[in-house]
Amino acid sequence: MSAPETDPQPSEFGLEPEYVYVARSGQLPDGYVRRFYPRGLELCLARNHGTAYAVSNTCTHMACLLSAGKVVEDGIGCSCHGSIFDLDTGEAIYPPATKPIATYPVAEVEGKLFVRVTEQDALEGAARKRELEEARRRAASS
Ligand code: FES
Repeated sequence: MSAPETDPQPSEFGLEPEYVYVARSGQLPDGYVRRFYPRGLELCLARNHGTAYAVSNTCTHMACLLSAGKVVEDGIGCSCHGSIFDLDTGEAIYPPATKPIATYPVAEVEGKLFVRVTEQDALEGAARKRELEEARRRAASS
């Protein structure tokens, strides 16, 4: 019986301890989006023109999941109402969303994807997601 596999550790690749292994590079082909939960934080990873990006998975318009959207020329498009966010900066570049999404540094080394997520990022990201979902429920019931 072989020993259980453990996730690659950031220190093995010269990365700060805040980086969390999320996937092999091949799991995120160009033009794809995927959902991951580093430190329990729900993130959308997307690859555009060969570069991998990590952003909040919650659209700032009405809290749809960006991992259900798609990579477009300028960034990531939300499938619900068509907002587009810049994958580098998180800026909302096409309405109806006007507020930015959070972005997180990605390191891709030796075919492995790591995202930098601190404990504070995880807490703040979860709080933002709750606020957006509550705002959506209030809007739906008014
Ligand atoms: S929820 Fe994303 S554009 Fe409306």
